[in-house]
Amino acid sequence: MDDRGSNEFCAILDFGSQYSQLIARRVRENRVYCEILPHDTSAAQISQRGCKGVILSGGPCGVYEQDAPQVDPGIFQLGVPVLGICYGMQAACQVLGGMVTPVEEREYGDTTLFVDRSDDPIFHGLDEKLKVWMSHGDRVMEVSERFTTLAHTENAPLAVVRDKEGKFYGLQFHPEVTHTRDDGKIINNFLYRICRFSGDWEVQDYVAQAVEEIRSTVGDKRVICALSGGVDSSVVALLLHRAIGEQLTCFFIDNGVLRQGEAEQVCGVFRDGFGLDFRFIDATDRFLEQLSGVIDPETKRHRIGHQFIEEFREAAKQFPDATFLAQGTLYPDVIESVSPFEGPSATIKSHHNVGGLPKDHGFELIEPLRFLFKDEARQIGKELGLPDEIVHRQPFPGPGLAIRVIGEVTRERLRVLRKADAIVQEEMVTYSDYRSVWQSFAVLLPVQTVGVQGDQRTYDDVIALRIVDSTDGMTADWVHLPEDLLARMSNRIVNEVTGVNRVVLDISSKPPSTIEWE
Ligand code: XMP
Repeated sequence: MDDRGSNEFCAILDFGSQYSQLIARRVRENRVYCEILPHDTSAAQISQRGCKGVILSGGPCGVYEQDAPQVDPGIFQLGVPVLGICYGMQAACQVLGGMVTPVEEREYGDTTLFVDRSDDPIFHGLDEKLKVWMSHGDRVMEVSERFTTLAHTENAPLAVVRDKEGKFYGLQFHPEVTHTRDDGKIINNFLYRICRFSGDWEVQDYVAQAVEEIRSTVGDKRVICALSGGVDSSVVALLLHRAIGEQLTCFFIDNGVLRQGEAEQVCGVFRDGFGLDFRFIDATDRFLEQLSGVIDPETKRHRIGHQFIEEFREAAKQFPDATFLAQGTLYPDVIESVSPFEGPSATIKSHHNVGGLPKDHGFELIEPLRFLFKDEARQIGKELGLPDEIVHRQPFPGPGLAIRVIGEVTRERLRVLRKADAIVQEEMVTYSDYRSVWQSFAVLLPVQTVGVQGDQRTYDDVIALRIVDSTDGMTADWVHLPEDLLARMSNRIVNEVTGVNRVVLDISSKPPSTIEWE
């Protein structure tokens, strides 16, 4: 594997920290290309890749626990600087001649770091007192004469250590989280002052390299791509189109539970705008038939997932000459399948995977985004001319409106929800902080309540508004929208959507609630 768009490479060895991806984000923000590799990656594998620096992540274990992950001692002979963070520091110090002991109580939270050697390059531009974020159960208590202590905290006499040659740095705290108030300087200093990276990595270079690679992999063969209109598959389709033009065929399956105008928008952008070979498959009837009489959300998910596979198989039959299937897999999904540790995200995702393709699809996979984070994929989308509405689209669940129509999904109930949801979208884009909102949508509840319209009593549907902030969908909080905006949404929905006489606002956070109502 070569380095994408840069001749320089930083390896991050993952010891299972919840922050490993954050470390990678910070490194890439410094324009240094990096990848997260399993903690047992050998020094030989790393050196093959022209590596200029290694970061050892934190991790949930104690170094003396049975089966605690170890670091290959050969890493310290590579001649490139190594930064050990928390567990990474402890695992390294153990190999390099230090003593690690458990502390009585886990140290967690804000701590003051007192810098003893402010002339060291790792502290360049920083004050002698720094707020840092600790989260550990063990700490390094003793180090051999090879080491110098650079900083301490009240509880940790060896909070930052360095070996005498300046090739290894160990930090007991987490510089990658924003609670460490160093303004990103510690990681920047490590990369530029210690590893001497030139910082030449740019997402644009990645595009050029991906295009080259796609061309040489595909040759004169045909590639198909199931386009959903989400950011990931849209960017993949455009990247492929740039690389191989008409050898790409995209198809879009309308499952009948999309938002208002969505199918038209995707057709407009890709077929009319970019001139892709784009096939539209209207599978509404078949999906709605599968959903008829179904109330249980898991059954809805299952049926939709199953039907999607059927539709995909049928569509693929039309391209017997296709060898490759392009997919918008992103880096976080790749890392999760590499990491030996299962985080909470692994469990949360299981139910979201319904809608994916079967493993035996018979195509070779092309996944040009597999080393990118979502915001990097967005940047590429922008670079390739993808319109803002798609680049910044909110996440939308695979089973679509089927899990937002609570109870049975019928054409009439979909009509009501679509109309109400379109009003929510139209009003939300007027909100000044719209880009920071994770999701904003309407939910149709399975209850009718009494209302009065003119002189008539009504007995109509209730719409709930779900508008949340989140960074990854795993936790979320409701957004405190301006009252006049909420009032406009509510008024418009009860006035414009026939069959709705009441609007309620969901003010629960996740946990204990979830984002979707289902
Ligand atoms: P919950 O409701 O579990 O949702 O808090 C977290 C995030 O995941 C999305 N979601 C789904 N995405 N298929 C998907 O592709 C699904 O079945 C599904 N269920 C929930 C949800 O919109 C939110 O962003």
